[in-house]
Amino acid sequence: MSTLTHSQAFAPSQEAHRTTHFGFRTVPEEDKESLVKNVFDSVASSYDLMNDAMSLGVHRLWKDEFVSLLKPGSKGPIKCIDVAGGTGDVALRILDFVRERYADRETAVDVVDINGEMLKKGYKRFKKTMYHNTPQIAFQEANAQALPEDRFPANTYDLYTIAFGIRNCTSVPDVLTEAYRVLKPGGTFACLEFSKVNNPLFSAVYDQYSFSIIPLLGTILAGDRESYQYLVESIRKFPSQPEFAKMIEDAGLTIGGMHEGKGGAWRDLWGGIAAIHTGVKL
Ligand SMILES: C[S@@+](CC[C@H](N)C(=O)[O-])C[C@H]1O[C@@H](n2cnc3c(N)ncnc32)[C@H](O)[C@@H]1O
Repeated sequence: MSTLTHSQAFAPSQEAHRTTHFGFRTVPEEDKESLVKNVFDSVASSYDLMNDAMSLGVHRLWKDEFVSLLKPGSKGPIKCIDVAGGTGDVALRILDFVRERYADRETAVDVVDINGEMLKKGYKRFKKTMYHNTPQIAFQEANAQALPEDRFPANTYDLYTIAFGIRNCTSVPDVLTEAYRVLKPGGTFACLEFSKVNNPLFSAVYDQYSFSIIPLLGTILAGDRESYQYLVESIRKFPSQPEFAKMIEDAGLTIGGMHEGKGGAWRDLWGGIAAIHTGVKL
């Protein structure tokens, strides 16, 4: 029996009827994109409120930590792409960070998402900011797995970020291949994603919270249990920290050691509820 590489294991199945997972369900690969789109169409209007409710506001701290860890702008203005950027949460943090730290009004972020509804919300939100109508921000509809080369040429970006988005994509290796392509040599890939909790006791409490409270909050706050059930299930289907680090390496990016923390390929947040993975295109 042949052994699958990590990338093969988490790519859609190569059989005649190619399947992938949609939460805990196995679905034909070609269906996943529209199923995910339905989820985000459905949650777009309540997305920011639900994010706060589901994570008790913690996603804000994680996104702050994500951006501080990356230190955008520390070597001068940069060009960033925030993929699966939704309503622009990470983009706004990057722009605020460089402006507050370095008085940098030249760093620019392209927010890319497959879902026009999420982007519309983001665009509207940015209208209230000083970045609106400046070259610092752009919203573009595109699939992370196949960024159109005319709009996203190779070797373009200094920083590629993706936060809570990659697990929704049908093929994680395709997303990583595209990330590698659009990054400049020396550019950084950074992913913030839900991950695997290491402590068994904490994991049990977290499971209880996720599977009973989150779908209930979805019902109460958004009238949509199913979408939130999917969000929880998709977290459990995502590869563990070392498995994902190996996939990043397989895509050609240089990672730190195969461990957590300083010098390692990832950093755990809250015992592994989320993790930040980074890699560099050398
Ligand atoms: C949970 S939201 C995260 C949004 C934002 N990054 C944040 O942290 O608030 C996931 C986003 O991934 C987007 N998405 C899903 N599949 C995608 C794909 N193949 N290409 C680009 N975006 C995708 C969804 O439309 C959605 O906006």
